[in-house]
Amino acid sequence: MLAVLSFLLLCLANVLMRGSQVATIALIECPRLAEAEPQKAAGAETAGGKREAASSDVTNVRAAADPWPQMEYTFPGPACPPMEWLEAVRHGSRRGVWNGTFFADRPCEADLRVHSASEACEILSTFDSVLIIGDSFERQLTGGFFMVLRDNFVNGALKQWEFEGQPDITEFCQGEQQFDERACRPFWVHSTRDFAGRTAELSAEVHVHWLNFMCPGVRPPQLDFLHWRHPTFMNDKWLRAHLLDHPRTVVLHGVGLHMDLNATLTIDTHLRRILPLLEASPQAEHVWIARHAPGRNKPAQFLQTQGTEATLRFNDALQRFFEARTRAQGRPRVPVFETYNLTVEATSFDGSHYGQQVNVEKAQLLLTYLDGVRRQKGWHGKRWPEAV
Ligand SMILES: *[C@@H]1O[C@H](CO)[C@@H](O)[C@H](O)[C@H]1NC(C)=O
Ligand SMILES: *[C@@H]1O[C@H](CO)[C@@H](O)[C@H](O)[C@H]1NC(C)=O
Ligand SMILES: *[C@@H]1O[C@H](CO)[C@@H](O)[C@H](O)[C@H]1NC(C)=O
Repeated sequence: MLAVLSFLLLCLANVLMRGSQVATIALIECPRLAEAEPQKAAGAETAGGKREAASSDVTNVRAAADPWPQMEYTFPGPACPPMEWLEAVRHGSRRGVWNGTFFADRPCEADLRVHSASEACEILSTFDSVLIIGDSFERQLTGGFFMVLRDNFVNGALKQWEFEGQPDITEFCQGEQQFDERACRPFWVHSTRDFAGRTAELSAEVHVHWLNFMCPGVRPPQLDFLHWRHPTFMNDKWLRAHLLDHPRTVVLHGVGLHMDLNATLTIDTHLRRILPLLEASPQAEHVWIARHAPGRNKPAQFLQTQGTEATLRFNDALQRFFEARTRAQGRPRVPVFETYNLTVEATSFDGSHYGQQVNVEKAQLLLTYLDGVRRQKGWHGKRWPEAV
């Protein structure tokens, strides 16, 4: 019941955010999905027509209340466990080829998978929400995820429907330019909710499933980028409520440059506030994203605070902070997604930010990690219910 209720709330929230035309569709669609519930509850009877014992009844009713049926894994997962995979990424390289292919280190190198859009959808449909929290690095990582999810590497990081009919921007904001050009920034996609008002992209068939258009057949993933200083994220009540409503939340999280890569400051003013909230949510998956290697064109005035030495020191201090916290509290280790080796042989356009190649790679490497996590936990993707 709780699941149905929260689904209806999701519908309501979407309706409130939409234009009137789409809202009409939403009002029709959402209750229908919820109606699938009683039929499934009836199906809880056993083949012999008898009801099972009271205790399993509760389980059946609860399972039936979830409007999203589980789906099987449709592709083979990584051979290495998730933590080992991240170690292999930490020690990976482009093998001396500038802008070259990135290889994860042995013995996990074969796990590097370029997920198709539908594979990415399946993985993310396992989780109730994905929060990407951080600064412009994480904002651009969000773009990498949306390019993969939309299978659109021309302008998939952008709300391109907002500049249709403007040939100069359409032409200009493509590929690499999506990331490094100021003129394209107003169009960056920050959330799956940004697609809510988007109807032209919907074919007649998926129009009915308007909520479902990005990932046909699966529960639509809910991805949100939140700037680390955004009032929503700064509001502990909001985060606590979000984690309660979305128990299987993935938090991909990193900051640092805005605090001059001062680890003490980052830990004391930022992490000590958010960590207890995340740790109180047993099914939440928290990944710390380390800072990039500085580009060769890092402006001289930033070399002291953001150069190679400062970056390595910061990443190392954060790694040690998470390890010490783990030892002290006997909790599972917070995984660190180290991106130094991933970026050190790639081109940064301003000395800090990387473009399409690195951001799509970051999304793909994290998808492998999340695929490993869900399989390790026995969690499955969620299908769109057939009853709709
Ligand atoms: C990059 O990979 C090399 C080779 O495995 C490793 O020695 C080094 O520690 C890695 N760099 C970082 C910052 O982890
Ligand atoms: C590497 O890629 C960037 C674009 O991201 C490009 O500007 C640069 O010329 C490339 N360098 C080499 C050596 O391929
Ligand atoms: C880092 O921040 C702390 C706390 O604000 C401050 O005491 C310390 O001096 C800073 N370190 C550097 C190297 O600026």
